[in-house]
Amino acid sequence: MTDPVLKLLQQQPAGRSLLQGFYTEPAVYRAELERIVYPNWFVAGHRSEWQATGDFRVFDVADESAIIVLGEDGELRAFANVCRHRGSRVCLEQRGQSRAFSCPYHGWKYGINGELVAARSMPDDFDISDYGLKPVSIGIVHGVVLIAFGDSPPSLAGAVRDLEEPMKVLDFDGMKVAARRGYAIPANWKLAVENYQECYHCSTSHPEYARMHTLTIDHRRRAPLQASLKKELAQSPLPDCVIDRIDSEAREGEMGYGYSRTALFDGYLTGSRDGQPVAPLLGGLKGYDGGASDFSFGAFSFMLAYSDHVVCYVFKPVDLQNCCCEITWLVRGDADASKDYDVDELVWLWDITTQADMKIIADNYAGIKSRYYEPGPFSEMEKAESVYVAWLLSELGRAHS
Ligand code: FES
Ligand SMILES: [Fe+2]
Repeated sequence: MTDPVLKLLQQQPAGRSLLQGFYTEPAVYRAELERIVYPNWFVAGHRSEWQATGDFRVFDVADESAIIVLGEDGELRAFANVCRHRGSRVCLEQRGQSRAFSCPYHGWKYGINGELVAARSMPDDFDISDYGLKPVSIGIVHGVVLIAFGDSPPSLAGAVRDLEEPMKVLDFDGMKVAARRGYAIPANWKLAVENYQECYHCSTSHPEYARMHTLTIDHRRRAPLQASLKKELAQSPLPDCVIDRIDSEAREGEMGYGYSRTALFDGYLTGSRDGQPVAPLLGGLKGYDGGASDFSFGAFSFMLAYSDHVVCYVFKPVDLQNCCCEITWLVRGDADASKDYDVDELVWLWDITTQADMKIIADNYAGIKSRYYEPGPFSEMEKAESVYVAWLLSELGRAHS
């Protein structure tokens, strides 16, 4: 019998949206988890979220769950949230502070370094040191915490090196989390990431965003605005550069990553309701240049850095037909919520934009499941999406080669 994934890969027309089966076949989803989702990095938070010994956050992706906890030695570690007795989830709280994790099922108790410290009524030859929680890969890129559910994820060295300049100028290390929200989307995860990759839909679906962001217009009309941003950047500590290492073009063995800065429309200093400042200027910036930087960290995590705040998007599969978009808003570490920023104003743009996205992505999925759906051609404004789709196909194909 032909492998359904291989069959779809062979049938997929070039330069068009994906065949229905890529979004609906359980075999494709299982292959994606093993080949694409678990081996690669997800942004799981900001280092400032772990301050005191035992501070922890649970981070779930598809069927996996990790406990990310700060040890006595100041090291951040991640462990599979799977009990070594009979497999229960160990930590059921999403975040908190604890000196130990006790499994709710039969009470096995683990220290914050992952070691099993107590297990009742076990045979004499039971060696407690053999049953620590299994480690999950963890890394930090200038304050941004990433985890991967594979034992040998791609190296983060390239991202640490190449993104250093913009991340240092914006002082990512010194930021803090001002807000976080999760958006449950009833659609296959790829549709949510594809939607984030293209702004062809922005002018039709996001009137608020389209007022300020020039990615809603094609590059020819954007050119004069981009030229004035270039002039501003000449006076700014921010680099005027484009880094584009999507996953298939990253150096072998390294996570893909990217950076670019794009002009906002005239009159908009940042992504706020009226375009006026919404939080204190980030890091070493001396003023507003009227731009916003796009960062990408691997295949699932993206950030938009305005001059006064950062919006971080992480797309996580939940199951074949559901995904979650987790958004975290970052501001400078010394900003005070009682006087320097208003959370409702800070989240306004991307909250309404994401709510609109949830609907269009769900409607997209409904149409794709129809017997009348067939892959359609990409527009000029869907270049990044088509590159992403090509990368997904090549990764899935590698699993079968
Ligand atoms: S499954 Fe955790 S103690 Fe039994
Ligand atoms: Fe959108």
